[in-house]
Amino acid sequence: MDVLRIKGGRRLSGSLKIQGAKNSALPILAASILAGGESVIHNCPRLSDVDAAARILRYLGCSVRREGESVIVDSSGMNRCDIPDQLMREMRSSVIFLGAILGRCGEAKLSYPGGCELGPRPIDMHIAALRAMGAEISEQNGSIFCSAGRKLTGARINLAGPSVGATENAMLAACCCEGETVISNAACEPEIADLARYLVSLGARIAGAGTPVITAEGPIRLRSAEHTVLPDRIAAATYMSAAAAAGGDIELESMEPEHVRRVSEVLAAAGCEIREGKSSLRVISGAPLKAAPAVATRPYPGFPTDAQPPLMGALLRAEGTSVFVENIFENRYRHAGELRRMGADIKTEGKVAIVTGVKRLHGCELEATDLRGGAALAVAALSAEGESFISGLRHIDRGYEDMAGELSALGADACRQSI
Ligand code: EPZ
Repeated sequence: MDVLRIKGGRRLSGSLKIQGAKNSALPILAASILAGGESVIHNCPRLSDVDAAARILRYLGCSVRREGESVIVDSSGMNRCDIPDQLMREMRSSVIFLGAILGRCGEAKLSYPGGCELGPRPIDMHIAALRAMGAEISEQNGSIFCSAGRKLTGARINLAGPSVGATENAMLAACCCEGETVISNAACEPEIADLARYLVSLGARIAGAGTPVITAEGPIRLRSAEHTVLPDRIAAATYMSAAAAAGGDIELESMEPEHVRRVSEVLAAAGCEIREGKSSLRVISGAPLKAAPAVATRPYPGFPTDAQPPLMGALLRAEGTSVFVENIFENRYRHAGELRRMGADIKTEGKVAIVTGVKRLHGCELEATDLRGGAALAVAALSAEGESFISGLRHIDRGYEDMAGELSALGADACRQSI
């Protein structure tokens, strides 16, 4: 078994290029089904979730190969419209394939995507959006059966909430509809706009992506294209939190400062100096941090839920009491138990977590509970006394290309080792 060994106490320094965004690469890989030809996807991160998406594409009859930082998908040979349970279970966000398969094939069969560590993860908004476009959808024995009937038609869709995945599924299906689709209450995350840029490069007609109202018109003859995935704002937020926790002076490169603005604001209030460049960001952290009085997670452009765990890992020794309110997922404080084992003072009740700063944390054996919860443990270990050994790296590998290598590049005493 591999573990991430981190010896705390070292200030960070140096620079790090931020990876391509997992949450942009995954919907774009699903969307490549619509190309019906070859798509070249640059800056595609090397992640186990990306590998899982590639396995699904190959099962569907597409060819997928990696050439350095690019992944090339040729979906001309697609010959299936179902995803079996075993592949669906590998990655909860596989539901993003639903809209693309339905749009391309006129039917789709997926096993019901289970919940995950963060909670039940329902897909009612996805289903409602596709039904609004004329899809006939039934759920039997743990599977979802979709048919476009005669054909999907443009519709006016008002999402019950700004769901990222439901917005993406609706956009993908809308590109294959007769007539215009208007998606209201759409998610505004940067990854939505990145997906739209890829679809437009395939010949789709989409406007408003990144705002609460998106229009998409089809059907269109999609063609091959190439696209560069935007930088991963959550990976950037993670390493910003690492610098805040350990102290030091780091530069993050090939990233979008605007996409992490809420995180920058909280870290600046905690006493860090944040210097934004055009596509870079510098974090300088010296004296002990000050607590963050109120961090409430919200849909973009609010404070991102995915940055809550690593930020919490950075504030465990801050002077004062930090308050987190997790408004997006029901069960996103699972990392608190592991952090308490290091000596953290965290009280959780429903959506709220109260973090009272402690003088010291001690390294110990830790187990990652989920992707971003694992990142929280690594961030906390940087400011702990002694060594920490983090297991459960299958979670961390879903979203970070090489956390041990990336932390080492920033001067941390970190390595991945087999035990
Ligand atoms: C995406 O998940 C991201 N994943 C998540 O990142 C991210 O935390 C989340 O958006 C919020 O920003 C990918 O993009 C692959 P949602 P998604 O639909 O699309 C509820 C990470 O760590 N909901 O916006 O699944 C849902 O239960 C991951 O990288 C419904 O009730 O998120 C949740 O409470 C974790 N019904 C809330 O909405 C639905 O039909 C937001 O979910 C859909 C969602």
